[in-house]
Amino acid sequence: FRIINEEKLSLNRKLGFSWTAYHDVNDIYKYLEDVNKAHSDWTEVIVGGESYEGRKIQGIRINTPTGDENKPVIFIESGIHAREWITPATTTYFINQLVTSNNPNITALRDQFDWRIFPSVNPDGYQFSYYSDRMWRKTRSLSPNGCIGADPNRNWDYNWLKHGASNNPCDYQTYGGSKPFSEVETKTLSAYIASIENLQAYVAFHSDAQMLLLPYSDSTTHVDNYDDLVTVGKTSLNYGRAVNGKVYRGPATAAEILYKASGGSMDWVRDALGTPLVFTYELRGTYFHWPAYRIPEQGEEVTQMLLGLVTEAKNLGYF
Ligand SMILES: *[C@@H]1O[C@H](CO)[C@@H](O)[C@H](O)[C@H]1NC(C)=O
Ligand SMILES: [Zn+2]
Repeated sequence: FRIINEEKLSLNRKLGFSWTAYHDVNDIYKYLEDVNKAHSDWTEVIVGGESYEGRKIQGIRINTPTGDENKPVIFIESGIHAREWITPATTTYFINQLVTSNNPNITALRDQFDWRIFPSVNPDGYQFSYYSDRMWRKTRSLSPNGCIGADPNRNWDYNWLKHGASNNPCDYQTYGGSKPFSEVETKTLSAYIASIENLQAYVAFHSDAQMLLLPYSDSTTHVDNYDDLVTVGKTSLNYGRAVNGKVYRGPATAAEILYKASGGSMDWVRDALGTPLVFTYELRGTYFHWPAYRIPEQGEEVTQMLLGLVTEAKNLGYF
């Protein structure tokens, strides 16, 4: 209960956007708009899709003018599972680092890429978790039998419903939906992702298994550049560990170190779009809780993990 109270410190929330409180999706979107207002020459509020309840899947594009018109795109997906609050929080922390840091490593990280960053790709679910049911994971779509929501990370058109997903709309956690892309969130977001030219890296954030996962989540057979992904992933985790000494498991496929799961976003991106660098980070926490005053601790880890990812991928000739 102490942790839950700390998550929702309303005093901190009243002070404006911060990384010592969790914010609802309206405040997160307002933060993105404020970032855009402050840096309108090189940021853009972008819409990656829409939700069942009519919200936008809003993100921010960060693309500084360096003379390079065709920078590699890095896509960051957070919050697909509603209750994993630390993921939108660390993602906005990372955005703030990119736009405010004077550390030359971070400004170089910002300037090399065309960033598309989405802190909350399941905004209906996140609001429901925020205000009504802390453990809510799914979307909020209504099934014909009256049950609500599908697992948006079991709903993508890759081996749909084969492993680790339920076909029961009343399943609280892993109902895969009535068909691939039955959820408007995954349908619209996948179309947006497919429309991006020069997408070189796709990074998804979850919590709280504390590991780094590689494609494919339902398989122990490895993709052709698996060894590179392991090398990049290890450097990324080493950068992260240097911050707080925290050790993540992996990199490996979910089938190897977590459980087999089909229909996830990362696997679809890799399979359908052939994006070379795809990673899923499982951040830290306890039953999806993480005290708000400690958001910066994981925010700094995530920032360094992404720096390590890019540094090693560059060493291997990806950019
Ligand atoms: C930048 O990165 C290099 C190489 O990892 C590191 O040695 C250096 O301390 C970093 N600089 C700052 C200011 O963090
Ligand atoms: Zn998750």
